[in-house]
Amino acid sequence: MTAQPALAHPAASARAGQCPVTHGTSDANAHGFAPFAMTDPFPSYTALRENEPVMFDEEIGYFVVSRYDDVKAIFDNWKFFSSENAQAPVRARGAAATKIMNDGGFTAYSGLSARIPPEHTRMRAIVQKEFTPRRYKALEPTIRENTARLLQQMLAHLTGRGDFLQDVAVDIPTITILGLLGVGPEMVSTYKKWSDSRAAMTWGDLSDDEQIPHAHNLVDYWTECLRLVSNAHEQLTADLNGDNLVFDLVQAQSTGSDISDHEIASVYYSLLFAGHETTTTLISNTIRELLAHPTEWQKLLDDPSRIPAAIDETLRFSPSIVGWRRKALVDTEIGGVQIPAGANILLLMGSANRDPGTFEQPETFDINRVNARNHLSFGFGIHYCLGNMLAKMQDKIVVEETLKAAPTLRLIDAEKIAFGDNLSFRAPTAVPVTWGETK
Ligand code: HEM
Repeated sequence: MTAQPALAHPAASARAGQCPVTHGTSDANAHGFAPFAMTDPFPSYTALRENEPVMFDEEIGYFVVSRYDDVKAIFDNWKFFSSENAQAPVRARGAAATKIMNDGGFTAYSGLSARIPPEHTRMRAIVQKEFTPRRYKALEPTIRENTARLLQQMLAHLTGRGDFLQDVAVDIPTITILGLLGVGPEMVSTYKKWSDSRAAMTWGDLSDDEQIPHAHNLVDYWTECLRLVSNAHEQLTADLNGDNLVFDLVQAQSTGSDISDHEIASVYYSLLFAGHETTTTLISNTIRELLAHPTEWQKLLDDPSRIPAAIDETLRFSPSIVGWRRKALVDTEIGGVQIPAGANILLLMGSANRDPGTFEQPETFDINRVNARNHLSFGFGIHYCLGNMLAKMQDKIVVEETLKAAPTLRLIDAEKIAFGDNLSFRAPTAVPVTWGETK
C-alpha cells in the first residue's frame, strides 16, 4: 500500500535556501520520466511509484508525485496546496510573445481552476448553478443527431478508412460547448485553433519564436470573450433572452450575483477550452481502447448498458489529463520528502490511476473493474471538474451510436498511434479506423 502523505507542521520542515530535493533510491534518470513525452509514459510512472514516488524533476523544476494516496491527499488539501499555478505557462513567455499579448490587451486569467478560496468559492457557487442536468438533457438530441451524421459521413469514405478523432471526436464536444456558450457551429475551426494555442502556450514546450503565432491567437481569443460578454449585456438591455451560459451569468450579475465582467469573460475563456479538448480526447480514447481490446468491444455490443463502466475504465486507464499542478503554501512533507513552501508540484493522475495499491492488475483494461470510478482523472476536492457529467454524457452517446452504426469498426496501425508532447494533456494525434469485413 502507498503510505499516506505526512503533512508536517511548517516549523518541522525544510528551510528555504536548502536544496529542496530528497533523492530517491534510484539513479537520477532510472525512472525514465520525460515530462512532455506522452506517447507511452506508463513504464516511467511504474518506475516512479516503485522507486521515487515523490521526486524533484530538474527539467521542469517541479516535485513529481506519482502514488494514488499522495495525489489524492494533495488534491484534497487546498489549505496546504493551492491550485494557483494550474494555468501558469510551464515555459516562461518570450519577450516577443509577451509584447504581442500586452499590446493586444490580453488580461485573461483562469476561470476557476487556478483561483483560490475565497474567490474560487464565490465564483464556483455562481457558475455551477448553470451546470444543471436539465441543461445537459436538453442537449442530448442534438449531440445524438450530430454523432449519427458524422459517423455516416465517415462510413461513406470511399477508402474504407477514417480517422475517428478528426471525423467524429473533434466536432461533437466543440459544437456542444459552443452551443452552450451561444456560439454557432461555423466557429468550430476558429475556436479549435485558439484552444490548440492555449494548450501549447500553457502546457507546451515552445521556443520563443514558436510562441509568436500562438500569442496572436490568444489575443484574438480573449478579445472575442470580452466581446461576447459585452454582447450579452446588450441583449439583456434590449430585453432579449440569450439562452446561453454567458448570458445567464450576465443576467445573474444584474440580479445581484457577485461576479464581474472580467470574471465572466475568464470563465468563458476557460470553458471554451476545458469544455471540448479533454472530451475530444475522452471520446477518442474510449473508442481507441475498446477497439484495441476487442473482447471489451464485444462485451458492449452484447450489452450496451456496460457503456458507463467502459467510460470510467477509459478515464482510469487512459486519462485525457495525466498531470495537474499545485503549489505548496507551507513547508511540508509528502511521502517522507520535504517540500518547501512555494514549491511547484506536478500530480500524476495518469500514474495514480495505475497504482496497484488501489487498483488490482492496474495495467489491464477491464470494463468489469469494480472500482474504476475511483480514478482521479477529474481531480478531487474543491476544484473537482465541473463538466464531468457533460463529458461522460457525450462520450456515452458517441459510443452508443458507434456500436449501432459501425459494429465492425477496427483500429489500423494501433502501435503507430502517437500522442502530442505536453505536460498535462495526453491526446492522440489520430485514431485510424476501418470497418470493412475482415479478409
Ligand atoms: C474528459 C473530460 C474532462 C476531463 C478529463 C477534465 C478534467 C479536469 C481536471 C483534472 C480539472 C482540475 C481538477 C482539480 O484541480 O482538482 C478540471 C477542472 C475543471 N473542469 Fe474539467 N475535465 C473534463 C471536461 C470538462 C468539461 C466538458 C467542462 C465544461 C463544460 C469542464 C470544466 C471544468 C472546470 C470549469 C474546471 C474548474 C473547476 C474548479 O476549479 O472549481 N471540464 N477538469
